[in-house]
Amino acid sequence: MAHTRISPRRDNRSVRPVIVAGNWKMNTTPSSAGDLARAIADATDGTDVQRVLFPPYVCLAQVRDALRGRGLEVGAQNLHEEAGGAYTGEISGQMLRELATWVIVGHSERRRDQAETDEIVGRKLRRACEAGLTSILCVGELLEARQAGKAEQVVEAQLRGALSGVADRAEGHDFAIAYEPVWAIGTGETATGADAARMAGVIRATLARLGPDRRADEVPVLYGGSVTSASIGEFLAEPALDGALVGGASLKVDEMAGIVAAAGLVAAARRGAEGLS
Ligand code: 13P
Repeated sequence: MAHTRISPRRDNRSVRPVIVAGNWKMNTTPSSAGDLARAIADATDGTDVQRVLFPPYVCLAQVRDALRGRGLEVGAQNLHEEAGGAYTGEISGQMLRELATWVIVGHSERRRDQAETDEIVGRKLRRACEAGLTSILCVGELLEARQAGKAEQVVEAQLRGALSGVADRAEGHDFAIAYEPVWAIGTGETATGADAARMAGVIRATLARLGPDRRADEVPVLYGGSVTSASIGEFLAEPALDGALVGGASLKVDEMAGIVAAAGLVAAARRGAEGLS
């Protein structure tokens, strides 16, 4: 499948991409997903923003077909931590590579509902890497951790747990990190732009210490949690943030149009600031 790499060029004029990713979660059906994908493509046409839609597994083929030649990419919401075998009902990275180019790993809803630990998340990342999929690794603290002043500690531990097993094998592995504070997901409440940017700093400092081959400042960091067309501006105003992982609003064409339009202005400004055409 056509796959745009997210690594910026390794030269002095490199600039991180601006990414808008839509996580549809357990919504849409095989008969509705293609139309929604096409409508989002139409409404966000002609932009520099890297757009990726993450439909449910059973809609991947329809969305891939609907988006062919449209400049958007398709991702899966999860993959199994083993490469194959007797795992009834599970989906491997190798299966996904025929349908998708991206995958979400470690979403908090799976950590909560499927008891995914950092160790499992790390194994999934390794499988994504082996399958040549670009990953979005999700991290984020629960409300109690934030109230206890431990948000940064939690995020650091999540990164360390997930990445320590892959750091030495991450050669050429494209990944982004999504900072999604759990208390902001589906609640209508968001972190402030400044808070999310501070956490992006913690994330890059941790990546630098863990030492995967990619330079920490090249890794895109997205914010996720109740992002809408009204709130996206606050996050994109922060140079440390490179876009958003959008849940509920990614099912609404007008919302996606507004979010991508705002992101497009930032992408153009960043390219202009770097002297890129
Ligand atoms: P909402 O945008 O619905 O809060 O979901 C965020 C999210 O979990 C994206 O992965």
